[in-house]
Amino acid sequence: MTILVTGGAGYVGSHTVKKLKEKGYSLVVYDNLSSGHREALEGVPFVEGDLLDGKLLSHTFCSFRVTDVIHFAGLSIVGESMLQPDKYYLNNVVGTLTLLNTMLAHKARRIIFSSSAAVYGEAEGVPILEECPRNPANIYGQTKAIVEKILEDYGKAYGLGYVSLRYFNACGADESGSIGEDHRPETHLIPLVLQTALKKREEICIFGEDYATKDGTCIRDYIHVNDLADAHLLAMEHLRSDRVSDVFNLGNGNGFSVREVINTAAEVTGTVISSETAPRRIGDPEVLVAGSAKARDILGWRPKYTELRKMIETAWQWHVKYPQGFGGRN
Ligand SMILES: NC(=O)c1ccc[n+]([C@@H]2O[C@H](COP(=O)([O-])OP(=O)(O)OC[C@H]3O[C@@H](n4cnc5c(N)ncnc54)[C@H](O)[C@@H]3O)[C@@H](O)[C@H]2O)c1
Repeated sequence: MTILVTGGAGYVGSHTVKKLKEKGYSLVVYDNLSSGHREALEGVPFVEGDLLDGKLLSHTFCSFRVTDVIHFAGLSIVGESMLQPDKYYLNNVVGTLTLLNTMLAHKARRIIFSSSAAVYGEAEGVPILEECPRNPANIYGQTKAIVEKILEDYGKAYGLGYVSLRYFNACGADESGSIGEDHRPETHLIPLVLQTALKKREEICIFGEDYATKDGTCIRDYIHVNDLADAHLLAMEHLRSDRVSDVFNLGNGNGFSVREVINTAAEVTGTVISSETAPRRIGDPEVLVAGSAKARDILGWRPKYTELRKMIETAWQWHVKYPQGFGGRN
């Protein structure tokens, strides 16, 4: 059985690939390197290709006898998705349809999909549970919600087995220090804060300090990338044991405020991290925290990184070693 890992050269993908490899799974990564890094995939079978290239995709399914798919490939910059919806619908929705139709043609019947907390939009109440309605507040989240719906329909009509994993905020890096988070441009809080500690940025911008939270800043749920990787292996075993298709939140269950992240990063890095306050961003909910009991109960998932400090330490280790990201080792 061979797993096709789309987007395996990206941040979450490369960490999952490393685990799959360590556990002896047979796999091939399929990635167009639009935001991924070839260097993140040492010794891993790799095909450089686009999801929209149905011919190459089909050839890859044949050559590697693909039976299962873990589907990370996607564009994920929220602001960009609002300005260029065509790009997002084409890549994330049409690209996924091409993938699913190729799977059916090659009788590959199991897929794990990287969904997102963005499918909930401004959910009411905390923690957010899987039953909360999909109500995305941006085009990026909309593409994830549409793919979730397509998976349900393909499940019913063609017997496709799927697990949609709704990640909250992925963070941290593998403790080996060999792979880490390198998005260009970077939009995620923890790497931005660490780039500020490295003096690659002058200051970190805090959008709103007047929320009704303990320190006035927004609260988010951060989940370590290796805990996400573990969930993918468990979800694959879940589907391979003929269990039902499902949707799971993947979060820590603990919220941390923007201010807490900055203060903890200052402690970890031993630096002063300058910040400035800007007005709230439209559509930024006050608190987003996942209820992940379902993944614990059904998949047996046990996140190992519960402390913010530890998560930031692993990310810092990567940033110190690769201050310029992949290709820029110190
Ligand atoms: N990082 C997070 O916090 C987070 C949270 C929720 C959901 N997600 C989702 O998880 C997935 C992985 O996120 P990430 O942070 O690792 O992103 P990433 O940008 O690091 O990785 C995405 C990978 O997909 C590849 N890719 C994109 N479009 C492609 C296409 N058309 N054909 C082939 N390859 C393509 C890119 O080159 C890249 O290697 C994404 O789908 C993202 O939307 C991420």
